[in-house]
Amino acid sequence: MGYTLITGATGGIGKATATLLASEGQNLLLVDIVNPAEFALQIMEEGIAVESLQIDISNLESTQVVTQFVAEKKFTLDGVVHLAGITRDKSMLKMDKSEWDQVIGVNLTGTFNILKVCAPLMKSAGGSIVLTGSTSALFGNFGQINYVASKGGVEAMTKTAARELAAYNIRVNCIIPGFIDTPMTRKMPEERYNAVQQMIPLKRAGQPEDVAELINFLISSKSSYITGTSILIDGGFRM
Ligand SMILES: NC(=O)c1ccc[n+]([C@@H]2O[C@H](COP(=O)([O-])OP(=O)(O)OC[C@H]3O[C@@H](n4cnc5c(N)ncnc54)[C@H](O)[C@@H]3O)[C@@H](O)[C@H]2O)c1
Repeated sequence: MGYTLITGATGGIGKATATLLASEGQNLLLVDIVNPAEFALQIMEEGIAVESLQIDISNLESTQVVTQFVAEKKFTLDGVVHLAGITRDKSMLKMDKSEWDQVIGVNLTGTFNILKVCAPLMKSAGGSIVLTGSTSALFGNFGQINYVASKGGVEAMTKTAARELAAYNIRVNCIIPGFIDTPMTRKMPEERYNAVQQMIPLKRAGQPEDVAELINFLISSKSSYITGTSILIDGGFRM
């Protein structure tokens, strides 16, 4: 059986996704800038393999370690869940160039790097790639000009990648999470966090496990006729 590579694997949505896919019997290659080795051991299930690599996906050379690793281990890659992402929030007038560059570097260039490295490894057998946008890019969220630029870009890249990779039977889709309970959103003051929950029709933040279920579907053959699209998972936030 092939492997599914998960970036941002030690983050909130990444951990929930890795845990679900492992319980479904999927072999995994966990990737994060924070070493995912210890987490990999925790989710190991009988009969599956969980490998891990500490990689900075904003750097192409670092990301290319995946190519070497897959060649050495002689396994095939048939799924990619690309979740690694960062925020550096500040209003546009206060934001400095390094905060712009960091977010574009990880979220946008990092997505290019992952596609560039992983697509060739999937060309022979086909598979499914899931990229990650954000409802912030649909709203134009205050204080996130760098983040919305990167996430809007990822949504657009999804369509080009889907067109270019369809010939190899590689599907590419983009999930658009709304407000999910993870370390990324828990950086907010609690009062603000609760206020945002009240703006959501379902009156709660999404759980990482909610997002993992959507990813599990998009990675599986149950979604074999879905490509080049974005799927909102936001409790009605964007309605
Ligand atoms: N939480 C939300 O409400 C929300 C909403 C919309 C979109 N998203 C997106 O979902 C994805 C997952 O977010 P999360 O909430 O789990 O965040 P998180 O902060 O919990 O996890 C992000 C992970 O990415 C990793 N990472 C950061 N920079 C990296 C790099 N250069 N190389 C490799 N790994 C790196 C981090 O170490 C972390 O483990 C992100 O792309 C985020 O933008 C989250």
